[in-house]
Amino acid sequence: MNEAILILQREHRGISAVLLGLKHLAEMAQSERIKPEFQVFRSMLRYIDEYPEKLHHPKEDEHLFVRLVRRAPQAKALVDALQAEHVEGAKRIRELERKLMFFEEGGRAGAREFLQAVDAYADFHWMHMRKEETELLPLAEKHLIADDWRAIERAFAANRDPIADIEERDFQKLFTRIANLAPAPVGLGEPWKKGPARTQPFGE
Ligand SMILES: [Fe+2]
Ligand SMILES: [Fe+2]
Repeated sequence: MNEAILILQREHRGISAVLLGLKHLAEMAQSERIKPEFQVFRSMLRYIDEYPEKLHHPKEDEHLFVRLVRRAPQAKALVDALQAEHVEGAKRIRELERKLMFFEEGGRAGAREFLQAVDAYADFHWMHMRKEETELLPLAEKHLIADDWRAIERAFAANRDPIADIEERDFQKLFTRIANLAPAPVGLGEPWKKGPARTQPFGE
């Protein structure tokens, strides 16, 4: 398998790991006795928002998708749908951020709504990545020629200019930070405090 496909799949695994962690912690936070560390949720949302936006989608939209449609016009409907999902995903993250604020301010109802929104987002994003891996990447492997792959790999490497490289490292740092902050079994951070069942919003 070529390097470009491996890079995209590796990036999917990273996004997937954070989504899985986010789902798990949102479920944990449903307990009335748990006091969640909201910073972990904020860092996770930042990761699943900015990593695709800044590093992952540009590789797909500007390099892989464009070349695929040129070689295989029949892929256009699929590419259009995937690009529309990139835009839709960004909107859904804004919604998740609003739900997180409501959760932090509002307590019980907010916790439930946040979990529902996280589940819906994770399903949406997993479906998107699955579609890319099971429909788009096989089409690309079938129709793109060696010259295309060389150009795509060059473009991905050029993406690692000094600025992009800083971003890549920033995201690795953010990923490590999430792993250090999140409690087990998601990460290595301190367990979230337990107390009497809360009746007031957080911080009161
Ligand atoms: Fe995508
Ligand atoms: Fe992707």
